Amino acid sequence: MIDIRDESSRDWQAVFRVISLAFGQSAEAELVERLRAAGDSVISLVAEDDEEVVAHVLLSKMDAPFPALALAPVSVIPARQRSGIGTALIQSAIERARSEGWSAVFVLGDPNYYKRFGFERPAAAGFTSPYAGPHFMMLRLSLSLTVTTGELKHAPAFAAVD
Ligand SMILES: CC(C)(COP(=O)(O)OP(=O)(O)OC[C@H]1O[C@@H](n2cnc3c(N)ncnc32)[C@H](O)[C@@H]1OP(=O)(O)O)[C@@H](O)C(=O)NCCC(=O)NCCS
Repeated sequence: MIDIRDESSRDWQAVFRVISLAFGQSAEAELVERLRAAGDSVISLVAEDDEEVVAHVLLSKMDAPFPALALAPVSVIPARQRSGIGTALIQSAIERARSEGWSAVFVLGDPNYYKRFGFERPAAAGFTSPYAGPHFMMLRLSLSLTVTTGELKHAPAFAAVD
């Protein structure tokens, strides 16, 4: 039975392991540590199965013309991928962001995967960002959000990632 809950400091070591296993390298796990240290981690959820952390997702602060978060990274340990855990975790993170009043979430990823959550390429197309391009998408959380252009800046920790 998968349990999705907020990360606590007791999970930090397990989260580092999960991210490193998912990506096959530690760069993304180190990014999460830098985001936490800078206070830019806003919503950080883990999926636990029988008290083992098997997946993690992070939403971090962005500079944007409205309250917005960046979704990255998302990690499911290889043995548990493609069984719906990533989808459930991302949906939980999005619902949390919506309930906390954030207006939008941006993601850089595969449109075929992220469209199931409502992320759209055209919605992000008017914004400037180092990540702008065919894999950059936005999910509008606030129905009253009408701004479609402006400058986006990810948290500074992202600048150190290749
Ligand atoms: C990408 C990832 C988070 C997805 O989580 P998951 O639990 O494996 O995915 P789910 O079981 O919820 O969803 C499976 C669906 O997503 C698709 N999918 C999974 N990974 C995908 C990927 N990298 N690109 C495109 N589609 C993908 C599957 O084909 C499947 O489609 P279906 O529902 O139509 O059958 C996970 O595979 C992972 O950790 N990968 C390595 C790290 C990574 O690439 N993270 C994302 C970038 S930040």
